[in-house]
Amino acid sequence: MLEGKNVNLRVCEKEDLPLVAEWLNDLEFLGVFNPLIQQSKMKLEKRYDKLTPEERWFIIEKKDGSKIGEIGHFPEGKLLAIAYSLIPSERGKGYCTEAVKIMVDYLFLSRDIVRIQAHTDVRNVASQKVLEKTGFKKEGTMRKYIFTRGEWRDEFLYSILREEWKEPKILTKTTS
Ligand SMILES: CC(C)(COP(=O)(O)OP(=O)(O)OC[C@H]1O[C@@H](n2cnc3c(N)ncnc32)[C@H](O)[C@@H]1OP(=O)(O)O)[C@@H](O)C(=O)NCCC(=O)NCCS
Repeated sequence: MLEGKNVNLRVCEKEDLPLVAEWLNDLEFLGVFNPLIQQSKMKLEKRYDKLTPEERWFIIEKKDGSKIGEIGHFPEGKLLAIAYSLIPSERGKGYCTEAVKIMVDYLFLSRDIVRIQAHTDVRNVASQKVLEKTGFKKEGTMRKYIFTRGEWRDEFLYSILREEWKEPKILTKTTS
């Protein structure tokens, strides 16, 4: 368990997959910028069984144990990237920013990596704010990077380097 002030990140267990499948098939949960995934529980279970150390999914939980979203890291080429989403009723309360800060602390404390990246639709201001509040820098625009909902979409590429992170913001060296 990765513990923050208002939220914890708990590694996703098989028992969580029905809820995650429900989320990933819910248009409200995906929002208007995430690609449409439409993934069955069985397909999700197959993906889960094949997860490598580079790819891990976490459930974002409030302190009362309620599950409010998901965050994960995954390989992009030789680099590590993160992605996240929250249930609509819990957005705008700072929970995702805290979850991303915890994930960044966790990855830099547990792995010998120099960089973490993320990308987001150029119109997804909420996601960009989350990244900027965590110390990510915008590197540029990846033009026509994702095809979804009938169109090619531009995405901003963001990254944070180990020397910009400097030290844990939420986790301590002993908790990760
Ligand atoms: C993007 C998302 C994860 C952000 O989570 P969150 O918990 O609401 O984020 P936070 O509350 O930590 O911060 C959001 C910031 O964006 C702002 N914001 C929210 N919606 C906004 C909008 N439509 N336009 C401008 N700013 C917006 C908030 O005011 C807040 O900024 P502030 O701290 O300066 O007030 C959430 O909106 C979500 O799940 N969206 C749908 C899925 C998605 O787009 N995932 C990311 C894919 S890259």
